[in-house]
Amino acid sequence: MRILFLGAPGAGKGTQCKKLAEKYQLPHLSSGDLLRAAVRAGTAAGKAAKEYMDKGVLVPDHVLIDMFREKLTTPECAKGFILDGFPRNVPQAESLDELLNEIHASLSVVINLHTDDELLTERITGRRSCSNKDCGAVYHVKSFPPKNDNKCDVCGSELYQRSDDRQELVESRLLTYREQTEPLIDYYTDKHLLRTVSGEGDVNEIFGHVIDTLNGKG
Ligand code: AP5
Repeated sequence: MRILFLGAPGAGKGTQCKKLAEKYQLPHLSSGDLLRAAVRAGTAAGKAAKEYMDKGVLVPDHVLIDMFREKLTTPECAKGFILDGFPRNVPQAESLDELLNEIHASLSVVINLHTDDELLTERITGRRSCSNKDCGAVYHVKSFPPKNDNKCDVCGSELYQRSDDRQELVESRLLTYREQTEPLIDYYTDKHLLRTVSGEGDVNEIFGHVIDTLNGKG
């Protein structure tokens, strides 16, 4: 299966993709996680990306396209993959189409996680992430708090708030989503690939709807 997740910042893409990756043993390719790893590692891509991420706007397309070309052509992705956060605008979607053509593959389905703006803001500003890059567990101060204050349940490392999860950047991220990413809903509807799943409610309930959708029952 080759699955693509669309959805606004904080819609719960990462949360659902991780569960799906575990269930189907597929690689989960999160553009945000890959970019943050590149920033931490100080690579050329990371250096190019940082100033854009800090403003809550899109990183230049070529950075993402190169990054995903490298990933999607690895043997690990031959049996399928889950894309989370890429593509994020129409030129990136067209580049993905070309890339998939080159490797004789196509998307199986595009899942659009739909969540109201008010909830998105609460989810983004309340998110806390594990500082251990090999763990990367994600919590929420209200809906999924860690058992011990500010420590990861899985590995015990400190939790931190992503620099782009501050209230003052949320508006810019949501605006970027509306202007640049939302047009992909029409793009994939026209290709008869889009399925919309509500991103509101209990995580496991949403996951059930995602699975039903993948099984053609959604
Ligand atoms: P990225 O990291 O991709 O951020 P995003 O799309 O804004 O998505 P998020 O990670 O904020 O949210 P999510 O939908 O994964 O939600 P999550 O599951 O964590 O991108 C960051 C930046 O990188 C961009 O701004 C841009 O600069 C750059 N970038 C990335 N891709 C790019 C591209 N293709 N082109 C150019 N630039 C790019 O959930 C959020 C919170 O809610 C968590 O705390 C979670 O625990 C909680 N939660 C989740 N589901 C539920 C639920 N059902 N109930 C209650 N709480 C829930």
